[in-house]
Parts: sequence; C-alpha cells; structure tokens
Amino acid sequence: MTSHDVTLEWPDGRTRTIAVREDETVLEAAERVGIALPFGCRTGACGTCTGRLLEAEGTEPGDGAGNSGGVDIEAAFAHRRPPRAFKDRHREDGYVLLCIASPRTSCRIAVGSSVHTELMENPWK
Ligand code: FES
Repeated sequence: MTSHDVTLEWPDGRTRTIAVREDETVLEAAERVGIALPFGCRTGACGTCTGRLLEAEGTEPGDGAGNSGGVDIEAAFAHRRPPRAFKDRHREDGYVLLCIASPRTSCRIAVGSSVHTELMENPWK
C-alpha cells in the first residue's frame, strides 16, 4: 500500500514526519507511532481533530495575493466520509479533519488544539 510522508507541525515549533498509508487516516497513523493528536468523535462531526494544510507536494502554499487557496485540499486528501464538522469555506481555506482524511501526496499540516480554535474564533475567515 502506498504511503506518503506527512509532516505534523505544532504551534511550539515541534515537528514530526510520519509515513501515512493511503488506507489509514492521519490520526490512525499518528497513533500507530505513538503521537498524541487531539480527537473527539472520530467520525468527522466534532472538529476536534482539525488540522490546516500548509503545503502539499506539487502545490504552492499561497499565491501571495491574500488567497490561501493555493493548496488544493481535495487533491491532497481523500475523506472516508463527509467532513460534517466543516462548512465548504473551511475546506477551501485548507482545513482538514485528520480522523477521516487519508493523504494522496506528501504534505505538511499544522496540528494541535489551537488549529480548531482558529475556526471557532474566526469562522468567516
Ligand atoms: S475527531 Fe471529531 S471530527 Fe475528527
């Protein structure tokens, strides 16, 4: 089974790169190697596991014109089920639910509970 290198980046600057298979979620892969990530429902409903895609292989992290849509979340991840915790604009802004998302390319993701907080504080971003 194909796997991709996924680099997790915490707000304190810590990073870990893990190999995530296409048949497992980022959360499952992190648990497999002993990395604790926040989660709640594990079904895409609560948003606790939210990460933000920073960069995906073959894409640019932004276009420099205030548009954060340079990273194509749909090309970078396949979802096991609909990400019910999100509105469409959240996905367009590069947010991803790590409990239901499996990578389709190597990428970097901002992780940690503060990423979910971004959505709660500024849902219109
Ligand atoms: S843990 Fe609830 S949406 Fe991922």
